[in-house]
Amino acid sequence: MIQGIFLQRLKEATSGRHRALECQLPLLDSGLSHARYRQFVSRFFGYYEPLEATLLTVPCWEEIGFDYAERRKTPRLEQDLLALGGTPDALAWVPRCRDLPEIATLPHVLGCLYVIEGATLGGQIITRRLQTTLGLTPESGASFFNGYGVETGPRWRAFGATLTAVAQRTGGEDDIIASANQTFASIDEWLFPKSEARATYL
Ligand code: HEM
Repeated sequence: MIQGIFLQRLKEATSGRHRALECQLPLLDSGLSHARYRQFVSRFFGYYEPLEATLLTVPCWEEIGFDYAERRKTPRLEQDLLALGGTPDALAWVPRCRDLPEIATLPHVLGCLYVIEGATLGGQIITRRLQTTLGLTPESGASFFNGYGVETGPRWRAFGATLTAVAQRTGGEDDIIASANQTFASIDEWLFPKSEARATYL
């Protein structure tokens, strides 16, 4: 099936980075504390907010034929931080990532979207675990990881079909893969900074 070939390639070409991130995230740990969880939600918020703002400024949405605005994850992250005890004032002070992946072209957008839409799949497992470890529900602080809830599978397949069709029409497969890997790398560096100066939040 031609439709699945590029997605499969994308998955294989990024699986090392996915695994590295998955191994470092403590979200499935049985000993995960409420405070540590909140720290990660805050960190994801500091990444997604500028990322989604940038994504929506790139003039290629007509070409993609996809409504990302309604898929934005930042409102869910805000909602979770407030449910976890944050205040609107505190949200304003959350550090924002300034080392975002390069997002200027159509392949950049597609590679980046692949990563952040794919994250909703793992989010289903994380959501179930958060219910057990911290007693959290999508309403009480786990709406980001819950993604689109029961719609997550169908929405992932709809995104996959769009990605495949646009890549076939416009080319740039290698750039999409490079951009997906760049996105994974920048999230990894943001969540798990390697340099001393930026590691203070941990
Ligand atoms: C504890 C953390 C995580 C776990 C346990 C996890 C687990 C999973 C699982 C089970 C899938 C579905 C694989 C399949 O259907 O074959 C998946 C897919 C995916 N995840 Fe994660 N994930 C985690 C974190 C993340 C993060 C933080 C990101 C990116 C920000 C991410 C990006 C993706 C992508 C792009 C896919 C789609 C792979 C594909 O089918 O092409 N994941 N993840």
